[in-house]
Amino acid sequence: MKFSLLAKDQGSKARAGSITTDHGVIETPIFMPVGTVATVKGVHQRELKQDINPDIILGNTYHLYLRPETKVLRQAGGLHKFMNWDRNILTDSGGYQVYSLAANRKIKEEGVKFKSHIDGSYHFFTPENVMEIQREIGADIIMAFDECTPYPCDYTYAKNSMHRTHRWLDRCIEHFTNKTQPLYGYEQNLFPIVQGSTYKDLRKQSAEYIAEAGAVGNAIGGLSVGEPAEEMYAMTEVVNAILPEDKPRYLMGVGTPINILENIALGVDMFDCVMPTRNARNGMLFTAEGTINIKNKKWETDFSPIDDMNITWVDTEYSKAYLRHLFKVNELLGKQIATIHNLGFYLWLVREARKHIIAGDFAVWKSKMVKQMDKRL
Ligand code: GUN
Repeated sequence: MKFSLLAKDQGSKARAGSITTDHGVIETPIFMPVGTVATVKGVHQRELKQDINPDIILGNTYHLYLRPETKVLRQAGGLHKFMNWDRNILTDSGGYQVYSLAANRKIKEEGVKFKSHIDGSYHFFTPENVMEIQREIGADIIMAFDECTPYPCDYTYAKNSMHRTHRWLDRCIEHFTNKTQPLYGYEQNLFPIVQGSTYKDLRKQSAEYIAEAGAVGNAIGGLSVGEPAEEMYAMTEVVNAILPEDKPRYLMGVGTPINILENIALGVDMFDCVMPTRNARNGMLFTAEGTINIKNKKWETDFSPIDDMNITWVDTEYSKAYLRHLFKVNELLGKQIATIHNLGFYLWLVREARKHIIAGDFAVWKSKMVKQMDKRL
């Protein structure tokens, strides 16, 4: 994997770059649509490729390991072939889902024992077997096995957990590098994850440890778990001052369009979040002018296009009143339209950010956008 920096903004820490892997180029900053169980929910491959057009999508180890199970993916020749996606894929390690989804999880030094949220069966994740599972899934970028601490989190717990995440990282690197190899003929790249909750000294220690590992890219975890946005930004700032400049930085699970722009300004290159897809299914639309709850009565007879900007074709193909109706009668199509709109908007936003970083006016554009997008329409 190769990362090249193309431009740095003068008025902020924002950067524009490109990551090249065996599945192609990822222009950064990038938003990665979430395809948890080998599908970006409700979106056909054709729409994903042609209309939304991301260079990379995300999958989840926890879910794919449980269903369809790794053996099926291995037989298919990996996740790319299974879902017919020939661009980049990143898989999260389960270090978040084990804590947010599984019941009865028990964390030990060796790993995490958990009960499946699907059928109650027991499983055990270790840094070693999570590397093997991610080799079998076959993503281009795979994540270290970590613990995402909750918010709030007491200092002693956060500190002990961070050190365990560091020890697990050493085991991930050792196993990934010396005991496994790619199964499908292309390179896979391991990203470590900074933890440390909302404590600056812990974040600093963790970023130093992760930087020392010398990985091809680095991630920041444990944020967007309920803390105020200002605390999230403060942590990103501390961490980015330490993580190497010449490697991509990935902020996991973030966030709103405003969170994304603020973190780009702090030097983050990669993002993922369920927000554009999950909120779409609940009738929330993100636009450059603010957010819309399409279920509100105020749209009942508003026959104007969903979004005049027409970023994706659905925006002018359908009216607000029609989309509201689809939600009111709980038709599948409503959720699909809203999903395409939101993902189109998120990808537009990061592409615009990139253009403005290259043009040299990112900070000014960002301030204007943040003000605009903060509205409820
Ligand atoms: N997704 C969002 N936050 C996190 C995190 O802290 N760790 C992992 N593995 N995934 C995440």
